[in-house]
Amino acid sequence: MIPAEIAAAATDLASAGWLKVGTVHDIPELEGRRTTIDGHKVAVFRLLDGFAAIDAECPHKRGPLQDGLVADGCVTCPLHDRRIDLETGDVIGHEGEGVAVHEVHVVGDDLWVRLATAVV
Ligand code: FES
Repeated sequence: MIPAEIAAAATDLASAGWLKVGTVHDIPELEGRRTTIDGHKVAVFRLLDGFAAIDAECPHKRGPLQDGLVADGCVTCPLHDRRIDLETGDVIGHEGEGVAVHEVHVVGDDLWVRLATAVV
């Protein structure tokens, strides 16, 4: 049974544009998983100290960022090794390239994501 405060929080989040994408247990530490929100592919990562969400497609040639290696606050694209900062979405060493960073919120064990306003 869902505690009343979590159910209330979930209702508030849903009405504010957040979508429940799974639970914290769905993503092993330092790995990512892909989800789709309103037709937008989003990669959600479990870091050592929380979660991060960015566009799932690399801005270079659409590599699957959810499958990249996560280290030092960055994910490395599995296709050609561009490193993307999970906080800013910037591609390191490639000025002007980047992906949208989405908001992540944890309620109980549930993971919620809200798309960045730039992509909504
Ligand atoms: S597709 Fe990501 S670095 Fe080329």
